[in-house]
Amino acid sequence: MDHFKTIIGQSPALDALIRSARIAAATDVTILLNGETGTGKEILANAIQQSSARAKKPFITLNCAALPESLIESELFGHKKGSFTGATGSTQGLFQAADGGTLFLDEINSLPVSIQAKLLRFIESGECLAVGDTEPYTVDVRIIAASNTDLNQQIANGTFRRDLYYRLNVVPLNLPPLAARLGDLDLLIKHFMKRFEREHGMVTPQFSSRTLKVLKTYSWPGNIRELRNLCERLCILLAGKIIEPENLPLEFNIVSPSSNLSHFTLPSAGLDLDNLEASLIQQALDMTKGNRSKSARLLGLTRDTLLYRMQKHVFATH
Ligand SMILES: Nc1ncnc2c1ncn2[C@@H]1O[C@H](COP(=O)(O)OP(=O)(O)O)[C@@H](O)[C@H]1O
Ligand SMILES: [Mg+2]
Repeated sequence: MDHFKTIIGQSPALDALIRSARIAAATDVTILLNGETGTGKEILANAIQQSSARAKKPFITLNCAALPESLIESELFGHKKGSFTGATGSTQGLFQAADGGTLFLDEINSLPVSIQAKLLRFIESGECLAVGDTEPYTVDVRIIAASNTDLNQQIANGTFRRDLYYRLNVVPLNLPPLAARLGDLDLLIKHFMKRFEREHGMVTPQFSSRTLKVLKTYSWPGNIRELRNLCERLCILLAGKIIEPENLPLEFNIVSPSSNLSHFTLPSAGLDLDNLEASLIQQALDMTKGNRSKSARLLGLTRDTLLYRMQKHVFATH
């Protein structure tokens, strides 16, 4: 079975990424996954593990942002009995649990600097030290790390070790944000709709062409996770219906800052303002199938002002 098939998309950016991931999966090198939240770092880490020689061995995930500094060291490396108040017995860490397999360190950008030194020691020597112990132990663990921030910036401000960064970054895999691969939107929507239709026993709703246009100009700050959640919600709430832009959550219908006229740059060759206004009104009417209230809203005008301007441009107003 090809485990990379779970990662949907055909855009060139994703294609190149999967090709590198396949090569890296066949080796034992440390991998650093870079990408905004929701771009698919975790499913890619899973696919790499499943396609590697370690597939039958444990795959253990630690979200480095989820634990306080005081706990993360013993969680990773284990601790000896009596090493701190409440340590009534010795406990194994995740490194031992992952022996022979893969340890996925998610949000590595949040790993405290003190623990970064200990992780570096493991990567360089294969040695770990349990909290409160003096004798190191060795394990055979492959590290896949993921970051949702620019680690170079953290190196510059002293919150991430440069030497660890170089050790982790043997094979860097950068996941493109959804806004950079909107060509995959249709495929992804189909994939999620089919899945939720099956899971919830609902008839898939359809997107109108206006709605698809909105989805294709949206910035998708939550990336594929946001798209997945939207599909699930619509599949449940609007089963069997046609989805219009008005049915989308509020954030989809907010005029984006880039279309805010205060950001519009006048071309040095000038323009014909009267013509531009007429063209924008025409576009709004086309988009709303002639609905004047909706057109006025799209243009940030009252309905009366729109009618006035339509008359000025000799649009038919009745
Ligand atoms: N290319 C993709 N194809 C199908 N599902 C995807 C894809 N990328 C992400 N997903 C889904 O989107 C959600 C977020 O992905 P995840 O791997 O958790 O992102 P990250 O770890 O980068 O925040 C998950 O439900 C995941 O299955
Ligand atoms: Mg994640």
